[in-house]
Amino acid sequence: MNTIDPRGNYEANMPSTKSLTLASTLKLNDGNEIPYMGLGVWKSSTCDTAVTAALKNNYRHIDTARAYGNEREVGEGIRASGVPRSEIFVTSKINDEDHGYDSTLRCVDESLELLGLDYIDLYLIHNPRSGTEKRLETWRALEKCVKDGKVRSIGVSNYAPRHIQEILDLSPKIKPALNQIELHPYSQQREITDYCKEKGIALAAYAPLTRCKHFDKPEVVKVAEKHGVTTPQVLVRWNLEKGYVVLPKSEKEERIKSNADAYGFSLDEEDMKLLDTCDKGDCSGMVFDRRNCPSLSPFRTIANKADDVTQQLTFSNPNDHSQSSFDARPNKCRL
Ligand SMILES: NC(=O)c1ccc[n+]([C@@H]2O[C@H](COP(=O)([O-])OP(=O)(O)OC[C@H]3O[C@@H](n4cnc5c(N)ncnc54)[C@H](OP(=O)(O)O)[C@@H]3O)[C@@H](O)[C@H]2O)c1
Repeated sequence: MNTIDPRGNYEANMPSTKSLTLASTLKLNDGNEIPYMGLGVWKSSTCDTAVTAALKNNYRHIDTARAYGNEREVGEGIRASGVPRSEIFVTSKINDEDHGYDSTLRCVDESLELLGLDYIDLYLIHNPRSGTEKRLETWRALEKCVKDGKVRSIGVSNYAPRHIQEILDLSPKIKPALNQIELHPYSQQREITDYCKEKGIALAAYAPLTRCKHFDKPEVVKVAEKHGVTTPQVLVRWNLEKGYVVLPKSEKEERIKSNADAYGFSLDEEDMKLLDTCDKGDCSGMVFDRRNCPSLSPFRTIANKADDVTQQLTFSNPNDHSQSSFDARPNKCRL
């Protein structure tokens, strides 16, 4: 098991990544443990069977969100797997339109009911776009959910350092345990990862497979050929080598199994150096810390159709994921 020590030295207690297995967990700053590998279920059209397949293949962590609209299916998939609840780690997230104290309490209750669970392992603020006041009210409500035993750990997603700092400045009862952001060799978000490591906040990688965009890039292909593995496995492994929780999504059992085979090899220094040169800032999460960002109301309209923050970006701008493409948009976002 990896640990983050109380002084916030994230990497000091990392065991050799070579010893990681699907059962390996990372100890969070609140003492709870999160399995490194989780199944992502955003846009999973067969979410319940994917969850069951993942659990049968020894995954022990499922990443859902209210915005995905599939918490009920996640619960069904968990029950169908026959794996005891106590062995499974479930993450969900609250949407920005639900930020606020009372609405957060209500959302957590709804998530529990939909999932059919009596506690949720990790509840995240999905993104920071509601403005300081609402963000902090939401945090206080999540702290109450922990006190009430409804949630075990709480954290954030798509948060830039200043959004996290705003919580820490309040000397909160509970510090954010984890920040879930887009992480892969083409989106390394070093400013955020360095900050989180310094503060003892774990990192979880979403879109770790780059949503298939970079499977054929020469650097990834070269490393895959060297180790005789697939390019998705290299991308998953890169995140494990970095010490990040990793959340590949697939609804196909063969791929769910194959992605987990990233535990069967390791990347050496030469591989990591090569992959570290790939950072192109190719991500959408960083948009939330930008002076100019997508206007809130168009986002909601689109997000209702598209289910998730990042889908909105591809939906509104299918050919261009670069940050500059968002700078031109109206600045109505309360960041
Ligand atoms: N916090 C946030 O704002 C946020 C944002 C985005 C995502 N997330 C979380 O992170 C998870 C992962 O991110 P993501 O779903 O956007 O992208 P991803 O995991 O990078 O990529 C998923 C895509 O890769 C395909 N795929 C999976 N394994 C494959 C394999 N071995 N070979 C070829 N293709 C493969 C999947 O297709 P098939 O399903 O057909 O296999 C799917 O199209 C999400 O599901 C969600 O839980 C969080």
